[in-house]
Amino acid sequence: MKGIILAGGLGTRLYPLTKVTNKHLLPVFNKPMIYYPIQTLVRAGIRDILLVAGGNSAGDFLRLLGNGREFGLNHINYTYQEGEGGIAQALSLAEHFADGGKVAVILGDNIIEDDITVHIERFKKQKKGARLLLKEVPDPQRFGVAELKGRKVVRIVEKPARPKSPYAVIGLYMYDAEVFNIIRPLRPSRRGELEITEVNNAYLKKGLLEYDILKGFWTDAGTFESLFRANSLTAKRHVKQRAL
Ligand code: G1P
Repeated sequence: MKGIILAGGLGTRLYPLTKVTNKHLLPVFNKPMIYYPIQTLVRAGIRDILLVAGGNSAGDFLRLLGNGREFGLNHINYTYQEGEGGIAQALSLAEHFADGGKVAVILGDNIIEDDITVHIERFKKQKKGARLLLKEVPDPQRFGVAELKGRKVVRIVEKPARPKSPYAVIGLYMYDAEVFNIIRPLRPSRRGELEITEVNNAYLKKGLLEYDILKGFWTDAGTFESLFRANSLTAKRHVKQRAL
């Protein structure tokens, strides 16, 4: 399965940290943020990776990552997202790369502790559709929130004022190639973006949406609080691993 890392956007919620550089190049403990999603994919055996860069200092990704040797890769593919069209718009730029196959899409500011191999393997066995990862969080109103009924997701609401569940939809999405046909007719939301939640709800309506619940820690790192949390969780894990 191919992997797509979305690292566009202007990172305005982190201004002025992002005034001269890209959010995904900011430090999370001892590494630039973008290292974490790359490692998450590589650890799950995904070696054919496209990085969708955008915003400030996009050229720095190439200088930092090169051909991915540090991650044991021989090659990284790059493309560029102009403006702030949202996650689904950034993903639409990957249609040629996906080439009709299934893809794992990860947001460049998502830090995932777990090895996601088991979820990727489950999606490989899934005939078609999409697979999401959910995580119980104390502040679901900041995310896409999945309303559950038994094993089924009944609705996903983007940043609900009154969340119906504590389950955030994390920024690791698995899609079949149908995703590009789903994105094509989408129109910008109130925040001017093509919303990934609309894509997920389209799969849901077709009865083609599955999910797993993540065990380890997960955080985004796109606000001051969550960037701080990402640093703190990663530092703690580092200390724990060194003690083993
Ligand atoms: C985006 C998605 C949201 C998801 C989150 C995960 O939010 O829109 O559904 O839960 O990523 O990090 P954003 O970071 O654009 O506010």
